[in-house]
Amino acid sequence: MGSPSFGPAVSAPGASCRLKPSPTAHALRLDALQVRDLAALHAVLDQLPEPPWDVEVHGDDLHLLETLRAANFAPYCSGTLFARPAEGLIAPRTPGIEIVAYDNGWAEAFTRAEHDAMEGLAAYGELGSPSGYEWGAGQGSFRIARTPSGELVGFAHADLPDGMIDWCGVVPAFRGKGIGRQLLAAVAEDVVSQRGTHLLAFAEDGTNAAGFLTRLGFRPKGRRTLMIARAGDTPGTDTAGT
Ligand SMILES: CC(C)(COP(=O)(O)OP(=O)(O)OC[C@H]1O[C@@H](n2cnc3c(N)ncnc32)[C@H](O)[C@@H]1OP(=O)(O)O)[C@@H](O)C(=O)NCCC(=O)NCCS
Repeated sequence: MGSPSFGPAVSAPGASCRLKPSPTAHALRLDALQVRDLAALHAVLDQLPEPPWDVEVHGDDLHLLETLRAANFAPYCSGTLFARPAEGLIAPRTPGIEIVAYDNGWAEAFTRAEHDAMEGLAAYGELGSPSGYEWGAGQGSFRIARTPSGELVGFAHADLPDGMIDWCGVVPAFRGKGIGRQLLAAVAEDVVSQRGTHLLAFAEDGTNAAGFLTRLGFRPKGRRTLMIARAGDTPGTDTAGT
């Protein structure tokens, strides 16, 4: 996502990437993947644990897109990467809503809220339910919004310190009340406290995320396509035509 890569490096002649487990560990992210051709890609894949493997491809990198397709990776989600400075995101308090750090003891309530908020998103369809975020307390910045009765109505998770917001939603009945803004403002505070400088977020096509992020001062940074090789898929071995 244009963020720094800190995972272990894997390389082969003509190919390299860094491994970055997703917070849910549903797929291994091949971050900053560069490949000369299909053979070089296979030389990297041969070094990895079993799929699923997940790659984010920049909109203009048709070579990588086609090479991944030839290795049986399939696109599962397209959208736009947005960014803004972490400093200066202001959010008035929504009456009756408390923003707190996530606790794994809320796993069941989180899974219900996540279903209500994320139903229909391709990224959620790929993760399935439960997504794995329900055990994510203490990993990066993970904030939730809840009502006085303890109902969990929104959530935001981001990597620290790079500020990549990888999971954020508000249940439909509580949208339009400033809760999403408050959640991202709380995440921004965590990013700044870890000396991060920016917030990054992916707006999936066909959702309301782009309008929301634009309103919060985010700016588009480019198109992205997410590709996945799922467990049980056999990576293509035909190196012809690359
Ligand atoms: C995107 C989402 C998190 C927004 O949550 P929310 O609580 O309704 O957002 P807020 O009420 O805090 O809205 C904040 C601002 O964005 C604006 N906004 C919200 N949705 C918008 C849209 N679709 N288009 C334009 N502006 C929008 C609001 O008017 C508000 O403006 P203001 O603060 O200047 O008054 C929520 O709609 C959602 O869960 N969507 C599905 C999941 C998703 O797409 N997640 C990815 C998020 S990056």
